[in-house]
Amino acid sequence: MSARILGPLAAAGLVAAFAMHGATARQVPAPVAPAKPAMATSLKKASDFAGIADPKARSLALFSEVGKVLQHPRCLNCHPATERPTQTDAMTPHMPLVVRAEGMGAPGLHCFTCHHEKNYDPANVPGNSKWMLAPAEMAWQGRTLGQICAQLKDKERNGGKTMAEMEEHMAKDELVGWGWHPGGNRTPVPGTQMQFGELFTAWVQSGAHCPA
Ligand code: HEC
Ligand code: HEC
Repeated sequence: MSARILGPLAAAGLVAAFAMHGATARQVPAPVAPAKPAMATSLKKASDFAGIADPKARSLALFSEVGKVLQHPRCLNCHPATERPTQTDAMTPHMPLVVRAEGMGAPGLHCFTCHHEKNYDPANVPGNSKWMLAPAEMAWQGRTLGQICAQLKDKERNGGKTMAEMEEHMAKDELVGWGWHPGGNRTPVPGTQMQFGELFTAWVQSGAHCPA
């Protein structure tokens, strides 16, 4: 008999029962929580980094700024480690359960059943014409910024994009741009998409170094 079968309430009861017998709560399997990096509220400009003379040091500083967007819940929610997106600033599992199934969701419960071309604020449902889940090889949740960086540069895991195409994607892609206009009660990613694109390009031009 596992806690997963019993459900959360019973699991809580089990924790209490174990505790009473002097065992620790660790005996009940904890749900897998996605990593939640601190949510950035501001974004520097590429020109703020021009004073760092050493290209590698400048590149690393630029990428940590880029990471404030990449590791924001608006982006991470759709680049999950599992088959299921997460939602809200707290990055809780998507309700209802929806799965990747080639990005569009399972037959009968496609993303477009609920998510439309635009945000629908009366029901707090975000939307975009390209709304679907990022492929598994583009998972960012639970990864370090260094791991995400290596993925972005790897054509096997970035959708076959050249660095020039990646720069274009960051600066211009409409679905990426949704992050700055998420609607409802969602916190936008910091800065502007143009500022973010310029940071990414400055990172590429300074050697595209990845943090350890
Ligand atoms: C609604 C889901 C969704 C959201 C939100 C989202 N993405 Fe994505 N992302 C995708 C999908 C789907 C792909 C693959 C298709 C493509 O390349 O456009 C992708 C691919 C990417 C890629 C290219 C491949 C790679 O290396 O991972 C980048 C870069 C990217 N997204 C950046 C972002 C950023 C930055 C944000 C937040 C500002 C963001 N995404 C938010 C769904 C999403
Ligand atoms: C039954 C309706 C429904 C379906 C189907 C659905 N969603 Fe959602 N989704 C919602 C609602 C409603 C919200 C807003 C929840 C909130 O913010 O409280 C949401 C929020 C999200 C978010 C979080 C946005 C953010 O940053 O907070 C992501 C990501 C997402 N959905 C992706 C998907 C993907 C990908 C699919 C298809 C595989 C999908 N959804 C299918 C209803 C749905």
